[in-house]
Amino acid sequence: MEALSPQTLFTGQQLVWLPECGSTNTEAQQLVVQNRATDGCCVITDNQTAGRGQRGNQWEAAAGENLTLSVVWKPAFLPAADQFLLSQAVALAVHDWLTALLGPSPQLRVKWPNDIFYGNQKLGGILIENTLSGAKIQHSIVGIGININQQQFAVSTATSLARITGRSYERAAVTARLLEHLERRYLQLRAGRIGALRTEYLRVLYRFQEEHEYEADGQLFRGQIVGVDEAGRLAVAVRDQLRYFDLKEIRYRP
Ligand code: BTN
Repeated sequence: MEALSPQTLFTGQQLVWLPECGSTNTEAQQLVVQNRATDGCCVITDNQTAGRGQRGNQWEAAAGENLTLSVVWKPAFLPAADQFLLSQAVALAVHDWLTALLGPSPQLRVKWPNDIFYGNQKLGGILIENTLSGAKIQHSIVGIGININQQQFAVSTATSLARITGRSYERAAVTARLLEHLERRYLQLRAGRIGALRTEYLRVLYRFQEEHEYEADGQLFRGQIVGVDEAGRLAVAVRDQLRYFDLKEIRYRP
């Protein structure tokens, strides 16, 4: 990848580029443990061979075609109980960045908690790993995987920027822009502008206020996503009842 020069204060100013690694989240974690990661340090690779996703899933990305990076932040200002705000800020930053690349589109959505969707296909994912110290977040490793130039996928539920637009992207340039958007949303969070973050997150939330089918506890039911609570649980209106779900507790049906 070409040199990256993000116009940021700290995010991506320390850049660790690895031609190949297992997982950028794991590499970032090691830098933190060795006390070698500054606030905003970014680890990026061209070939991630053991990428990790949410719910213990793997994250596959064809070598040299996509974006796989992790940012280390030290959000000492954020109580551990509010960690979902960071997840919302990151998802919004990725959404902002993609909106700048693709133009505004109602197809571009954040699927709770922070999958990036275009229509009904997944364009990218986010894995945030926080280390807590008492009630505070000591550091946060924000792993982001976005399909950029890859054309073929093993599953029909995945897509890439190149498949959406029919063109290819210069990864260094788009990565620099992503780091800028990440820092902007992080600073919004740090400034305590939380109401705006929550409102904007709902505005881009996949299936928000639409009636769809879901599955929980082996039961199928229809419901409407109506919000997310402070702990990050999904709030779904099912008939006249409001039900809250953690990540592993609900499945979206097509
Ligand atoms: C998901 O949708 O399940 C989250 C996927 C997160 C993938 C990214 S790629 C860069 C970083 N390193 C990893 O091992 N995972 C994240």
